[in-house]
Amino acid sequence: MDHKNRQIEGSAPSDVENATLSTPDSLPRLKDEQIKKVAGSIIWCFISKGYVSFKMGKVIVITGASRGIGAATARLAAAHGYAVCVNYLKSQKDADSIVDEIKSTGGKALAVASDISLETDVVNLFKTVDTRLGVITALVNNAGILETQMRVEEMDADRLNRIFAVNITGSFLCAKEAVRRMSRKHGGSGGAIVNVSSAASRLGSAGEYVDYAASKGAIDTLTIGLSREVAPEGIRVNAVRPAFIYTDIHANGGEPGRVDRIKAAIPMKRGGQPEEVANAIMWLLSDEASYVTGTFLDLAGGK
Ligand SMILES: NC(=O)c1ccc[n+]([C@@H]2O[C@H](COP(=O)([O-])OP(=O)(O)OC[C@H]3O[C@@H](n4cnc5c(N)ncnc54)[C@H](OP(=O)(O)O)[C@@H]3O)[C@@H](O)[C@H]2O)c1
Repeated sequence: MDHKNRQIEGSAPSDVENATLSTPDSLPRLKDEQIKKVAGSIIWCFISKGYVSFKMGKVIVITGASRGIGAATARLAAAHGYAVCVNYLKSQKDADSIVDEIKSTGGKALAVASDISLETDVVNLFKTVDTRLGVITALVNNAGILETQMRVEEMDADRLNRIFAVNITGSFLCAKEAVRRMSRKHGGSGGAIVNVSSAASRLGSAGEYVDYAASKGAIDTLTIGLSREVAPEGIRVNAVRPAFIYTDIHANGGEPGRVDRIKAAIPMKRGGQPEEVANAIMWLLSDEASYVTGTFLDLAGGK
């Protein structure tokens, strides 16, 4: 008798109906589909028991990431394994160089020009991320502007509308697109949002830019309200409130050396670096902050 290919006798269950005895170890030889079925069941069992987990790719959109705090956050996010969308308004060269830097270290990044104050631009920004980077898991609402220092009685409606359109409307529009993709209510897998507010929301920026400070007050309220709205849907929403950070933004207010002028009045007696803000943003986005939502991290040297 051929012991190597002996048919199983008797009434075999259908799954092994054509199995043969494989000598010398006498194990039934299974068909490909049967092997796949058994392997699938074993893997599923390991996943459901929590012995095995699969990490989905992390995808982050950072608005205003061509310079300053946004650029520092883009570099750090890439180092933490995120595929990074570097959004910008005009500075294509700067945005491209951040992307090149990330790619040169083996990361994935994409520069996308969009004016976040315009709804069509924001919709296109997120559609581009969908197709080029994948499902968004994190958003940093960082892009923000201020204008020449002046008192409130000098501000006209055009200026106020420009500031509010970028700082407030832009952050709302980006949050909207992110929630539509991340929320479990919409079939997403959750995520995290960090809004870049400012200590100005607490301090008021008297004599400099109360309009800007007020726009950051709105961002604080967005953070609280949205965090409560989407917490049950797997999305955490927090904010950082930096101040006196060495970036180009102070030049836009007409005083490039503002941080150095003010630093003696800062309890820590120094200005901050964009990387110090980026570290706080990345912590709020990380699993280490898994029970943190609707809160603020002040990065203002004790002010
Ligand atoms: N620096 C500080 O001391 C400080 C303190 C508190 C809060 N913050 C906040 O931190 C955030 C980043 O500030 P920063 O100091 O890094 O500013 P920054 O150096 O002036 O950079 C601003 C970034 O925002 C982008 N941007 C401006 N308008 C935009 C628009 N309409 N659409 C898309 N992107 C736009 C710019 O893009 P382009 O390069 O293309 O123009 C740039 O990438 C802001 O929200 C700011 O209010 C800063």
